[in-house]
Amino acid sequence: MNQRINRRQFLGATAVAGAGISLPWPVPAQPQKTGTGAADKPALLGGKPVRTRPPRAWPIFDEREEQALQAVVRSGKWFRGNGPHVARFEAAYAEATGARYCLATNSGTSALFTSLAAVGVAAGDEVIVAPYTFIASVNAILLHHALPIFVDTDPETLQLDARKIEAAITDRTTAILPVHLGGYPADLDTILAVAKPRRLPVIEDACQAHLGQWRQRCLGTWGDTGCFSFQASKNLNCGDGGAILTSNEEWADQCYAFHNQCRPRRGGGGETAPGSLRGGNFRMTEFQAAILLAQLTRLEEQMRIREQNAACLDRLLRDIPGIVPAKTYAGGTRNAYHLFMFRYQREHFANLPRKRFLEALKAEGVEARAGYGRLNRAAFLQRALASRSWQRLFPADTLAKWAERTECPANDRLAEEAAWFTQTTLLGTRADMEQIADALRKIQKHAAELARG
Ligand SMILES: Cc1ncc(COP(=O)(O)O)c(C=O)c1O
Repeated sequence: MNQRINRRQFLGATAVAGAGISLPWPVPAQPQKTGTGAADKPALLGGKPVRTRPPRAWPIFDEREEQALQAVVRSGKWFRGNGPHVARFEAAYAEATGARYCLATNSGTSALFTSLAAVGVAAGDEVIVAPYTFIASVNAILLHHALPIFVDTDPETLQLDARKIEAAITDRTTAILPVHLGGYPADLDTILAVAKPRRLPVIEDACQAHLGQWRQRCLGTWGDTGCFSFQASKNLNCGDGGAILTSNEEWADQCYAFHNQCRPRRGGGGETAPGSLRGGNFRMTEFQAAILLAQLTRLEEQMRIREQNAACLDRLLRDIPGIVPAKTYAGGTRNAYHLFMFRYQREHFANLPRKRFLEALKAEGVEARAGYGRLNRAAFLQRALASRSWQRLFPADTLAKWAERTECPANDRLAEEAAWFTQTTLLGTRADMEQIADALRKIQKHAAELARG
């Protein structure tokens, strides 16, 4: 696979002075410096916004995607069983990540669901998972009628606190599902040091972490399997789609069988795969794979732009009291930056509530979002555990103690404090990053007025 993109095709670009990177759109006007007058007044209170340029449009595509899709339509081969694109994408993604096997699926959720099935997770088991994540990490566990056991979050990195995994293991624990949230690597050294001696499978949720690395090796290649999402917001996108990486042939066979109605990975016709207990249809289509092959040609270049902008933003934001960018563990040699995450400490902003802070930022032309909530306390979980099947599958004592076992005080606090910029913001220019810092400084300066309303 040609992982490096053809620069002329991609760029049509301008080099941004000082940033040392090339960007696929014109250089914007210089940022306004905060001073006095209308430009200084918060936009939410009627002042002039720091930024007026719309956020970067996403997805980015051109005739490559259009031609690829048209070719599939015209071929009449729309299914992985008779077209070449899914297999081509699997080979290309395996090469890009250094994985031995890659299996494409129809979503990241089905990649997780399939992986858990392949390593043997079933009804009545416990799976250790991060509470600071998208709901799908937990849904994949619940779909197997297993019990999610949450381990608290490390507030410095916003990742699962791997030092707390060991204490959460019981004789029902069947797998560990760490999440590389935002594309920031979870602490794989500590996770694997706990899992390996106990032969506990590790399913990496790398749904937000395309081409991120731990000790120079891609995320998703360290655990028993690594799962990716190609849903529309992701750094690699085909609307909806997913993939599983593994270096273990047995898991590759089991994943294939589960995702394709118990059929064997090689040959087999109408046969069922040896060892396969159950399966479904979680296959990727030829359309998804054709789009992904085109999108993949842009990924590495976009990664570099995000990395440079994130480094710049990190430097700028660290000088603003009360804005605390998430750290990357020392073993994280490449952050995939699906998000740029930070904690907002309102005590440094005249106690301005986070909601109002985000509104003020939006008014300045800067899109930021509140992070995830207290997933370990979500109402749907309480309902699941109170339902007939969980009541039958788990001892009353296990269910009664579950709430206490899954308390996550650091995550509770984070759910109030966290915020993030998305990956499309990181595809901006260096001037865009400076404007973000300008907007934050302006809000801080006027935080008391904004708090008053
Ligand atoms: C951390 C995480 N896990 C799992 C998923 C599920 O992926 P999908 O939406 O492709 O099913 C997502 C997608 O948003 C995610 O962010």
